Amino acid sequence: MKKLNVVILAAGKGERMVSKKPKVMHEIMGRPMIRYVVERAQELSPAKIIVVVGYGRERVEEYLRSYPVTCVLQKEQKGTAHALLAAGRFIDKGDILVLYGDVPMIEKETLKDFISFYEKTKSITFMTTDVPDPGGYGRVIMSGDEIMEIREEVDATRKEREIRRINTGICIIPIRSFSMLRSISADNKKGEYYLTDICRIGRQRGQSIKGYNHENAREVLGINTRKELLEANATMRQRVIEQHMQKGVTILDRNVYIESGVKIGIDTTIFPNCYLLGRTVVGSDVVIGPNVIVKDSVIHDNVTVEGFVTIEGAEIKEDVKIGPFSRADHFVYIGDTAVGKNVNTGLKQVKQKNASGHRRKKECAE
Ligand code: UD1
Ligand code: MG
Repeated sequence: MKKLNVVILAAGKGERMVSKKPKVMHEIMGRPMIRYVVERAQELSPAKIIVVVGYGRERVEEYLRSYPVTCVLQKEQKGTAHALLAAGRFIDKGDILVLYGDVPMIEKETLKDFISFYEKTKSITFMTTDVPDPGGYGRVIMSGDEIMEIREEVDATRKEREIRRINTGICIIPIRSFSMLRSISADNKKGEYYLTDICRIGRQRGQSIKGYNHENAREVLGINTRKELLEANATMRQRVIEQHMQKGVTILDRNVYIESGVKIGIDTTIFPNCYLLGRTVVGSDVVIGPNVIVKDSVIHDNVTVEGFVTIEGAEIKEDVKIGPFSRADHFVYIGDTAVGKNVNTGLKQVKQKNASGHRRKKECAE
């Protein structure tokens, strides 16, 4: 897979979000959706990752600064083929996997299977899926596993609109077919250069165009509206919970909210209605909850955080017990102590080893 390039299309405004923010910066479980796509791309160890930016580019570029990606500006958003062409000057060899900045739920295994399928034919390949309500998506006209054409909804006949197989947008374009993008015209209802038109042009030139159908539509559908954003959040929330359970965390109720970046050690138990947010890191053998909020904090091994506690921007050292209804925030460091009920520890309140270095258990007032 070394020779593959990944191009992530992320220049669109996302009108249907009704937002000042570029669509790809909207968050799912605490992270902008573009980040998921970039991370999936990184997992494939491609030759290059190119992100096509446009609307709100400063914000997207700033966010991606620490990632090994090249951002390319598409000045005007004239369509997906036009966007891919903008990335062209950074690609001289290697085939191109196109991902969408607004399709963030895609999983690594799905992409790997898709690439393996492509490797067998080396033909232009689009990932498709079947949905009961295909409204808004490009309809895929198939013959066997060959794609005849992809028709955008606005250009489709009534009969074509009944087709439930839709284009996810994810595709692989072999480098030798890249120049065909230049033959695409904007002669359609939207007046845009459609990447999907490469299917028709390819067929006219006698090329085989493959469809790779992925069954789990939820994973490969684009996010265009706030409602779809909500649904993506719900799906990702469950996915995060599953991942922690697989890695040895006990979760006593699905009603916990653990953002994507949070790390939790083995044999930790999370009671219902806990929120673990931001850059939180939790050690092993920790007990948290119920009804606890932990944000941007480090909780070391063997800590017990009892019910109704809020911890923000704090570090809690090993073996500490935090009593119910307490609050620790603003860079507080709690160590070698037990915090009783209803305790509020604020800025600079530090409980730690005494000067001689002996561990001395302190009790904080109740
Ligand atoms: C596109 C597909 C459609 C597919 C759907 C899946 C085309 C012509 N249509 O439609 O077949 O079913 O995605 O979600 O490809 N973008 C740019 N520059 C542009 C236009 C778009 O970078 O000039 C980016 C957007 O930021 C987005 C992606 O490309 O990440 C898709 O664009 P969008 O406008 O959402 O396309 P759809 O109409 O959804
Ligand atoms: Mg879209």
